[in-house]
Amino acid sequence: MHIVVCKDYEEMSRRAAEIVAEQVKKRPDGLISFPGGDTPLGMVHVFADMVNEGKVDISRTHYVSLDEWVGLSNEDEGSCGLFNQQNLLSRLQHPFAGTHIINGAAEDIESERVALNDYISQYGPLDASVLGIGMNGHLGFNENGVDFDLDAHIIPLSETTLQVMTKYFGEKFHPTQGISQGIRQIMAAKTVILIANGAHKAEILKKAVHGPVTNEVPASVLQNHPNCYVVADEAAAALL
Ligand code: GLP
Repeated sequence: MHIVVCKDYEEMSRRAAEIVAEQVKKRPDGLISFPGGDTPLGMVHVFADMVNEGKVDISRTHYVSLDEWVGLSNEDEGSCGLFNQQNLLSRLQHPFAGTHIINGAAEDIESERVALNDYISQYGPLDASVLGIGMNGHLGFNENGVDFDLDAHIIPLSETTLQVMTKYFGEKFHPTQGISQGIRQIMAAKTVILIANGAHKAEILKKAVHGPVTNEVPASVLQNHPNCYVVADEAAAALL
């Protein structure tokens, strides 16, 4: 793992965006993926600015979202789809060659899962997979105990996720499942960039980076990835 300790959130966001841009330059017709949540907000904005300023050309690049709350559509507050739309796609003055944003409100969620696999098979493997880390060590919605061999799947939300999720949409929605790219697809990415900020992530980041590789801490699997960057601010990296 390449550990990149940044002085603050702004530097973490910039460094992560730069690593993604390097991967796009290496394979302009590749596939990239960003997570939702609070952590990637700055990085996504920096990346969009880089595109708009002509520093990176995504006209041949495809984009796929990482995960979604089952039951939430791309228009619902707190959904990963809305995050992608508002913070990335609508900001771009030069669009991606194509995008696939998971629809958690699809009537046939199984078809949505298959469509996610198909998109990654068609345009992948991922060149850059940016990931946040959940308080329980989840990646996307690869929750504790997940099978590392899975591709896209639908999974019950863990107790920790059920507690944390109200920060995204209060009491408005009560999802019980997530749909997510699987660990197999994440591990097949040429470059993985795990981003984390804030003291509240320090303990779980330490377990992910230095603890045993176990599906009880899904992010620990990244220790086995040949090209994984951990880009963290000083607070999140305090115990590394
Ligand atoms: C969420 C999402 C993940 C995200 C993680 C951390 O539940 N499923 O994709 O990376 O938890 O979120 P945050 O960045 O808000 O701490």
